[in-house]
Order: sequence, then structure tokens, then C-alpha cells
Amino acid sequence: MSRIQDTRFPLGKAPALHVGDDRARTANVRSQCSGPPHAMRGLFSVWLVLLWCVPYVAHGQVRDDAGEPCRVLADGRVEGPLRTIAEEYRRRTGAKVEIEFLPMADVDAAVSGGRAPCDVVLAMPADKKSETPVGSLAGAKKVAWKYPSGEPVWAAAITKHSQAAQFITFVGGPTGHRLWSESEAGFTITSGPNHAEAYAWVVENRLKHTYPMTAARMMAELGGIRKGTCIDIGCGTGMLDVELAKRSEFTITGLDIDADMKPLFDKKIGDAGLQDRVSFVEGDAQKLPFPDNSADAIVSRGTLTFIPDIAKCLREVDRVLKPTGVAFLGGRYVYTPQKHKMTTEKLQQIVRNSGVAGARVIDSRGQWVKIVGPQAPKAAAGFQGGPHMLAGRIVADYAVTEGKCLLICGSDGGLEQALQKGLLETTDVEIAAMYPSEKVAGEARKRIEGAKLADRITCTTGSIGAWSFDEGSFDLIAGVGPVLIFQKDRQKAMQEIYRVLRPGGAALIGGKFLHMPEFRKVSSQSLRETADKTGISSIRVIDNMGQWVEIRKGIKDRGPRD
Ligand SMILES: C[S@@+](CC[C@H](N)C(=O)[O-])C[C@H]1O[C@@H](n2cnc3c(N)ncnc32)[C@H](O)[C@@H]1O
Repeated sequence: MSRIQDTRFPLGKAPALHVGDDRARTANVRSQCSGPPHAMRGLFSVWLVLLWCVPYVAHGQVRDDAGEPCRVLADGRVEGPLRTIAEEYRRRTGAKVEIEFLPMADVDAAVSGGRAPCDVVLAMPADKKSETPVGSLAGAKKVAWKYPSGEPVWAAAITKHSQAAQFITFVGGPTGHRLWSESEAGFTITSGPNHAEAYAWVVENRLKHTYPMTAARMMAELGGIRKGTCIDIGCGTGMLDVELAKRSEFTITGLDIDADMKPLFDKKIGDAGLQDRVSFVEGDAQKLPFPDNSADAIVSRGTLTFIPDIAKCLREVDRVLKPTGVAFLGGRYVYTPQKHKMTTEKLQQIVRNSGVAGARVIDSRGQWVKIVGPQAPKAAAGFQGGPHMLAGRIVADYAVTEGKCLLICGSDGGLEQALQKGLLETTDVEIAAMYPSEKVAGEARKRIEGAKLADRITCTTGSIGAWSFDEGSFDLIAGVGPVLIFQKDRQKAMQEIYRVLRPGGAALIGGKFLHMPEFRKVSSQSLRETADKTGISSIRVIDNMGQWVEIRKGIKDRGPRD
């Protein structure tokens, strides 16, 4: 890693230190801060030697910091977000914060033995299993987690500089996740005048595409309930509520404990013209402000694990839910900070101990608690996922919500129809459904015209490779069933799929093949070997809820999804 530094605080150039005389040291350091960066590594070593020779500031030393900046020594991997956070901190508090970014190993070396020439130190370990010495310093706090690998970012106050503790708290944000992820540095920053606005950024920039899919899944889980009263617990900015309203006739109440969400929620609902049907109520999920037996449906996304007493919340949900109602609460928690994630076993235990009859945990495409009222529709109890879920998976994993989609259909059976329906409901893509013969295509065309879907689905005939599509024609290619594994030349088929994808597009083709005779199946190992031969670096064979070949074209892998 190249040395990264904030030239206002070049620790690597530290001169001789005077015990306990931080002010003199800082002044001295600052007077020398214009040297060439390439000289820093050598000077850093000199500084380390000096550090060992001179007893340094013990943890918690009171520093006369009148007018002195709070000096932060930080792991270079958090440079992007930390700079932004520090800027925001300076802007809000007027405090001076100076940061030096160093390679992780240098930060670790600097703090070993509890020594570091700064007021705050911040670093994360090389991987989840290892530790950073910063984590073992007295009073060290986990302020963030790297996504998706999950290494914690540790921060510790070295001195009692008046800004040290406050800065650490600020870095972690109100719920300890101000440092978000995904940029080149491994993180993306979000901040705002309050937590609600910081969250709104995440919603707009990271989650937006998932709400239609979540709403569609919820509607399927509700087993046909689509009228009456629906409560959304922890509604946030109202994105889910807009999508639920589009798919139902519900009157929806979004409940959230954070009053700052209300203006954001009201704007979202107002922009969608839904103010007559959707409203916001401030309240706590553990003490719902609704009468007994009053809700037909209760849903919640991304909130459950933030609630301190989940069992209490579930009992409240059970109280408010009509006997004919269904509740579906949970989420995928992809962006949730580790400390608010929970194992399924733990959630199951909480659900068991809550005493709510009819509550169970569903650990599929997320982690959910479902409560089915004793007189709820039978379909609510029997929901099994299926191709509708596959549409959700595609939308969630590839974030393709518009453009052109090629559906490779082996027939026009229930799977293909459900996948079409799922994609139409959760995206705005135009679908080209490709059938193996004119006969099947003709029947499908009739069905599609009858369902008045012809403006979104066109039917063609062909098979993988035996087509005349130009390079880069499709944003998304999906296929459910043995459409790829039955190809004579699978390698060529994979290469053709790659060719007709547009850069940034994705393909997911496969299935569960539950009822297929063994001799017709292809082992994942052999599929992987074929995939390797294609020379496509982004091709993967995934054994998750079936066997799938995934091809992404020209986009950085955003990390594993559940
Ligand atoms: C991760 S956000 C999810 C927001 C929204 N459901 C969405 O999907 O965009 C979690 C939400 O739960 C709310 N929340 C946390 N604890 C709560 C509680 N005890 N009662 C009600 N809402 C709560 C937060 O204010 C926040 O808006």
C-alpha cells in the first residue's frame, strides 16, 4: 500500500519528542510538513525508533489541548470515508481534527504497547480472524464494520484530548454504522444532518431497487390479503410503503420511532400521490399505538433486529393483528451493521420464548418472522417461494430494474410464467421471451396477449447461440430450467450469453432440477470446469437454492449476497 497522508499532520516526520510536551511536538511537526511524500517511509521508521526510545504519552494522559487540534492516526483503508466524516465533524463542531493515514501495519506498529503519538487511533484488522492492536487498547470501541467481509474498525482514545471521545462517537454515528461500504477503499460514507437523512442516502443509493421485490414477496407471503389495514413497523423513509400501496388496496400506516423520518416519509408518499392511503405515526415497535385485532397485515423490513426486545414486539404484533391477518417481519440485512445482525438460531429462540402461537422463522432470502393468524388464508401458510422468489433474487443481486431482458424459456409452463410475472411486478424491464419452437411461442403469445401483457413481453423463437442478437443487447438474461445444461456445447453457450450481455449486465440461468433423473443432471464440478474454459472471469456456478450459472459483464463483483 502506498503511503497515504493528510499533510497537515505528517507523523512520519516527527522530530525529537519531549516527554509530555505535546504542544511543542505538534508545533514542531507542523513546521515541517511540506517535505516530499516519498521520504516519509524512512522517516516513519526513524520516528518509530524515537517512539521506542522515549516513553510516550500513556493512555488517558490529560493533554493541555487549548487550541490544539485533535490528532488522529488512521488506517489508510478508511481514508475516503474518514476524511468525509472528519470534514463534517469540523463543520459541525468547529473543532480542529488532523488525520494521518498510514498503512495498516504501520498503525499497528505505532500502537503496539499502547504507544501512539496522537489523540485518537483508528484501524481495522487484516481479516476477520486477526486482531488489530488498536482493539486491545483500553476503552477501544468498534465503530464500523467493513462490508461485506465484516472486519471491525476499532477506534481508541489515546489521550484525554477534549475532542477525542466525541470524535470517536461521531465516527461511529448514532447506531455505530456511519462508515458504510463498497467504494474502492471498501467503504462508502453516508452522513447527514441527522440519522434519518443519512439513512435516506443509503436508501436512494444502495437499496432503492430492492423495495419492489420486497413488497412483491410480502404480498405473496400474505396469501391473498390485499385490502384493509396494513402497518409497516420501522417504516423509515416510506419506500416500502409506496411499493406495497401500488400492489394492494391497503390503507397503510408507517410507524417509526425516529421522528426525523416523518418529513422524508411524507415527501415520498406525497410525491407518489398516496397521501390519502398512506400515513406516518411516530411510535415504538415494542408498544404499538394501535387497538387489539385491528390490522389485516403487519410488515416490517430491516428493522426487527434493531428492536431491543424483539419478543415484546412480536407479542404486540400478535395483539394488534386480526385473527384473519398475517405478519411478515424481517429482511436481508445486507447493509446492517454486524452488531445488529442475529443468528437464525437466536431469533428462533426469541420467537419460541415470545409465546406467540403461529409465529415462525423463515430463513430464506433473508431472515423473517411470520405470524399467521388462526383464521388467515390457507395460502399464507403454504407459501413456498418459487420462481417469483427467483425474480426477487435477480433484482436484489443484480440491481437490474430497467432495460432489456432476455428470458430463455424451455417451455411456457408455470415456472416460466411465474418468472415473467415476478419480473414484470418488480421491475420495468422489457422482456423478450425466447421459446424453442414456433408452436410454443405461438401459445405463449396468445396467453400474453390475453393477459394484456404484450406491451411488455414479446415472444421469439430460438436457442442459446442460434440467435441473431447483437453484442451487448441485453441488460439481463434469465432462464429457469435446464436450458443451459441441455446445450450440446455448454462452453459456447456461456460465451454467447456473455457476448449478448451489455457491459454491466448480468445473467442467471439454472434451476432446482428436483425431479430430473440423475443421468440428465450435470455436476457443479463439471459446470465449473466448463465455465473456467470460457475465459470469462466473472462467471460463477452457484449452488444456492438450486444450481445456477451466473455471468456478470464488466461490473465489479459487489461481494457475496445471501
Ligand atoms: C434499517 S431502517 C429500515 C427502514 C425501512 N423499513 C426501509 O426498509 O427502508 C430501520 C428503521 O427502524 C426504525 N426503528 C428502530 N427501532 C425502532 C423501534 N423500536 N420502533 C419503531 N421503529 C424503530 C428506525 O428508526 C429506522 O427507520
